[in-house]
Amino acid sequence: MKDVLTAPFMVEMIRTITNMYNHGWDERNGGNISLMLDEKEVAEYLDIENVLRTIPTGFNAPSLVGKYFLVTGTGKYFKNVQYDPERNLGIFRIAEDAQTAELLWGYCDGGQFTSELPAHLMSHMARLTVDPANRVVMHCHPANILAMTYVHDLDEVKFTRTLWQMCTECIVVFPEGVNVLPWMLCGTNEIGEATAEKMKTARIVVWSQHGIYGAGKDLDETFGLIETVEKAAEIYMKIAHLPLVNTITDDQLHQLEKRFNVKAREGYLN
Ligand code: 13P
Ligand code: ZN
Repeated sequence: MKDVLTAPFMVEMIRTITNMYNHGWDERNGGNISLMLDEKEVAEYLDIENVLRTIPTGFNAPSLVGKYFLVTGTGKYFKNVQYDPERNLGIFRIAEDAQTAELLWGYCDGGQFTSELPAHLMSHMARLTVDPANRVVMHCHPANILAMTYVHDLDEVKFTRTLWQMCTECIVVFPEGVNVLPWMLCGTNEIGEATAEKMKTARIVVWSQHGIYGAGKDLDETFGLIETVEKAAEIYMKIAHLPLVNTITDDQLHQLEKRFNVKAREGYLN
């Protein structure tokens, strides 16, 4: 059996987490990631018959039965993951009953998966119905997108249009726009269900006054998606208090659609 710390999925996960910390998106234990793994790739590194312990999830995930996930631990600091992956991360499989995690590796101090597991696994279920290639759900607390939820209308059309106008390539990276939830209590099944519902129509869900969720087919793509939204929010926060002299017009956004062969969310452009 090969050393799981050398697995490409593990190396990529640790690099991504470290990079997110270095971007200032994950203070203290802020943020969490879940990466879906193939049974075959897990079996190269772990004895999949050897369940270390079982942990109830507190919700039903019927379409994820038998699926494997690499997930950050609750209360763990992104800053520390690279130095002690086995304490800060875990690999588990969703058991036959659809509401138990079968731990195969990690959480070695007796810990468990992120408190936001409902939002993660429910979002995986939702994204897989619209994109079978989805493997990643990523949550973090980037300062500018968070700041924007204090000063900008939370209407999804208005919020999306503002972001698209902040950098030319935004509409190319997230043509479906961003969905927005009002402030809700985090770590609950309720916010998980609300996030998953929003994930059916966009890969980005903003949690007002809290942070952001992104989904995608791999860690790089999902990181890049959040990075682009956060950059747009940064521009907005730099200019929101200044008189607006220029912008990207709807006609120019239509030109971008054509040039990059993307379709803006229906009804979002004039
Ligand atoms: P966890 O430490 O449980 O992952 O929670 C961090 C967080 O960002 C909550 O929204
Ligand atoms: Zn959070």
